Amino acid sequence: VPPARPLKSLAPFPMGVCAKSPQFDDPAWVQLVTTHFSQLTPEWEMKMEYILADSPDRFRFDGPDTIAAFARHYGLRLHGHTLIWYAQGEQAFAGLDRARFIAAFDRYIAIVAGRYRGQVVSWDVVNEPVTDEGSELRDCHWSRMLGLDGYMIRAFHKARAADPNAVLFLNDYNLENTPRKGATFLKLAERLMKAGAPIGGIGSQSHLDIRIPPGQIRTFFRDAASLGLPIHVSELDASLRSGERVDLRSRSQRIEQQTARVGELAEAFMAVPERQRFAFSVWGARDTDSFLRQGERDDGQNQPVLFDAAGKPAPLYAAVTGAFA
Ligand code: G3I
Repeated sequence: VPPARPLKSLAPFPMGVCAKSPQFDDPAWVQLVTTHFSQLTPEWEMKMEYILADSPDRFRFDGPDTIAAFARHYGLRLHGHTLIWYAQGEQAFAGLDRARFIAAFDRYIAIVAGRYRGQVVSWDVVNEPVTDEGSELRDCHWSRMLGLDGYMIRAFHKARAADPNAVLFLNDYNLENTPRKGATFLKLAERLMKAGAPIGGIGSQSHLDIRIPPGQIRTFFRDAASLGLPIHVSELDASLRSGERVDLRSRSQRIEQQTARVGELAEAFMAVPERQRFAFSVWGARDTDSFLRQGERDDGQNQPVLFDAAGKPAPLYAAVTGAFA
């Protein structure tokens, strides 16, 4: 396999990757990431589950500060992930009456987005607002206190107040895999903008299901581009595992599906008007960095991202760079 030319020199937009501060102690990871990527997304340490343990008043910033310093040192853009997410914060905000809850909600965003003002170029202000079924918004502790659209509109306004320059994203997953969810997400973004929310971009996580029919990915990005907003492919991976108990596909069939779908994604992103191509981020530098290769999810063989455990280009690498040419 020829040595991989730096991705960031091949792509006509920033190439991003997620990062955890312990990875900074791995010279091979640092070498690979600083060679190929120009943007970082904290995989964990800028989330509420890290910053707040179990109280809305005690903040921990050692992890995110380390990531911000690393990005600054290597001249990498930093994408903040994520301020408000249905999946986190319930315990820290439990037991507060409405007034105190709202004050703590506002204060959290003001403190966190304020701290990284001038250090992040962007934030996932609201993450994963649409249900997996795809036609509704998730009911969560934020929506129960502030309303379904209400908590999102408030979060965007508070993030804008804390950081006047960051590009503020609405971010979700399965937007290509589940067309109904993609449509609901785009309608939500339009509705929130009409209500005055300062949404500056939309993020498609793109944890691709490689079994989906050809064309769905292209259709979603064509529809997404019609909003006229910057688009972030924010968390690309393409698992070779389906999660089904019985999966009759051979490995070569899976790799064929994987390279076809990721190639379609890269081509669909290339077809988005240049000013709307915010960044193309993968969720893991090497296979072994992927969350899909952690703990009980790990089958020891999944190759969901662009580089293998040794930092060599995986089959996906050519599918992506082939679209950038
Ligand atoms: O490393 C710490 C360890 O020191 C600590 O003792 C332990 C205690 O729970 O936590 C460990 O941190 C784990 C962290 O990943 C870093 O490895 C957390 O438990 C674990 O919850 C966390 O999982 C992350 C998950 O989001 C939840 O935050 C995954 O790494 C991360 O890949 C995943 O990323 C999400 C995106 O944010 C949103 N889209 C889906 C994507 C995949 O689920």
